[in-house]
Amino acid sequence: MIKKMTINTIKQSKNTTPLVMMTAYDALFANLFQESADIILIGDSLNMSFAGKSDTLSTSLEQMIYHTNAVCNGAPHTFTICDMPFGTYTCKTTALRHAVRIFQETPADAVKIEGGSDKADIIQHLVNNGIAVCGHIGLLPQSVRGEGGYMVKGKDDTAKAQLLHDAQTVEAAGAFCMVIEGVKADVATHIAHHVSIPVIGIGAGNGVDGQVLVFSDMLGLFEAFTPKFVKQYLQGATLVKEALAQYRTEVIAKTFPDKTHTY
Ligand code: KIV
Repeated sequence: MIKKMTINTIKQSKNTTPLVMMTAYDALFANLFQESADIILIGDSLNMSFAGKSDTLSTSLEQMIYHTNAVCNGAPHTFTICDMPFGTYTCKTTALRHAVRIFQETPADAVKIEGGSDKADIIQHLVNNGIAVCGHIGLLPQSVRGEGGYMVKGKDDTAKAQLLHDAQTVEAAGAFCMVIEGVKADVATHIAHHVSIPVIGIGAGNGVDGQVLVFSDMLGLFEAFTPKFVKQYLQGATLVKEALAQYRTEVIAKTFPDKTHTY
């Protein structure tokens, strides 16, 4: 079992061993992941892979609270971060009210907020009020409709400078770490070298301070689309379908249950 990380040990991990972050949405998988994950993120990606929606925007705070409690029940000794859903941190007051609900109604260790310099005042306000915040810069899934799609970030010098500014502002606002998503590897590496808190990448190459993957992607459970940055460590969908087909065959043939599975 991995020793539970804290805000301080996460910060101190910079330039040592890369952080291993996984998303999880329920107790069953969280319990399996706790042996290998330093941090479990209850991502609002659950709205897509768990609830079957086409993006994360309709995720509710109640959903996040429900799934965070489930994950914390399954992995009580793992550091957990709960995503703040779209629309729950539009200003300092709203953000604090919703973050306080997450802290009061779940054992989550921190919340995650998408955005860079535009969200600095909100991050600072939460931190000043005792809420640990993980930033999220680069490709922001909650902006998918506003931007008309999922776009790789940091493609030119202006975008690269803006990303560095975002990262440094998020750090200065008091975030203890940040996710960087969908950014060219050289840009993400440059950013990781210019902030002193860990930068955890997804689709951002291996020059950063850790990696996060969405569990249904990395276990090969999500078949519709596999982004270039995803490595499937298990052919989950194939294995599940094969098991179900075998079950169907045995139920129809009445070979299940056999004597060993009967009282
Ligand atoms: O919601 C999520 O799973 C995330 C990851 C993509 C980092 O924010």
